[in-house]
Amino acid sequence: MQLPELVIGKLIPKYPIIQGGMAVRVSTSPLAGAVARAGGIGVIGATGMFVEELKEEIRKAREMACGGIIGINLMFAAREFLELTQAAIKEKIDIIFVGAGFSREVFRRTKESGISVVPIVSSVRAARLAEKAGAAAVVAEGFEAGGHLGTDRSVKEIVPEIVEAVKIPVIAAGGIVSGQDMADMINLGAKGIQMASRFVLSQECTVADEFKQAYLQAKEEDLVIIKSPVGLPGRAIRNKFITLLERGEAPEPEDCDACLKDCSAEYCILKALINSRDGMMDEGVIFAGKNVFKMKDILPVDTIFKRIIAEYSAI
Ligand SMILES: Cc1cc2nc3c(=O)[nH]c(=O)nc-3n(C[C@H](O)[C@H](O)[C@H](O)COP(=O)(O)O)c2cc1C
Repeated sequence: MQLPELVIGKLIPKYPIIQGGMAVRVSTSPLAGAVARAGGIGVIGATGMFVEELKEEIRKAREMACGGIIGINLMFAAREFLELTQAAIKEKIDIIFVGAGFSREVFRRTKESGISVVPIVSSVRAARLAEKAGAAAVVAEGFEAGGHLGTDRSVKEIVPEIVEAVKIPVIAAGGIVSGQDMADMINLGAKGIQMASRFVLSQECTVADEFKQAYLQAKEEDLVIIKSPVGLPGRAIRNKFITLLERGEAPEPEDCDACLKDCSAEYCILKALINSRDGMMDEGVIFAGKNVFKMKDILPVDTIFKRIIAEYSAI
């Protein structure tokens, strides 16, 4: 099968593969830089970073990218959303992905700079809204994805519907881990794919090794849907923390810095995500995609690209 050309505004990556942004420093400059260098779009998860830190991360990623495409991902639900957006615009980021909500303001602010904005959507309605607002493309994310979820429907159902409904390129996300998965999405009309869990299991991802081991050890039945204080469900790997959560015994938030615009305050999702990223696996939420159990190795980013492209091309 031939690779489609993914055209997002002025950007055309060598391969139509995007590394999904992952908050609280799960996707940082070493990963984003390596993905961009390999020919995809490397994305820094900006949610949970400080403004100066994000600027520094963008500069570092650029140095590693050797001219490749670097983006940031921001959750609209984050209180610092606009400050971080502004910082990325100042650093002349190539592309901004917006998850967990919709912002008209980000289109207004990027209009002059030519920066592409790509909302992450899970329905035809949201995709049309994004296109009307000026989106250069949309990521259509199904319930197979890791992290916060906007739908209980499969990526295989929503991609063809969204492709039919909009003229801008549609990028499929959720549960994609192989060249065959990628081919399935391209056959449904997607112009590219976004993967996150596959890139957690890379050498360049800077999470604690315990986080990667939790991915490698996860079985299919360990993937569960939890309630996040953000007000959305989320997909994570079952652990001690989730058992407490299900019993209504999760630790109450301490030292809250109001990181979210709206928060149920049932527990601190920021702290829970930071704990797991830092290796405190019993005290945190381990976000992961539905097909994480299919992956058995930690690879260099370049090898992940070579393998997926070889598998895809052989179809
Ligand atoms: C650890 C983790 C953190 C994530 N953080 C974010 C985030 O901050 N913003 C966002 O839009 N999506 C986030 N996601 C979703 C991914 O960017 C991606 O779209 C999704 O996980 C794709 O499914 P896959 O992991 O099966 O490839 C996260 C996913 C994971 C696994």
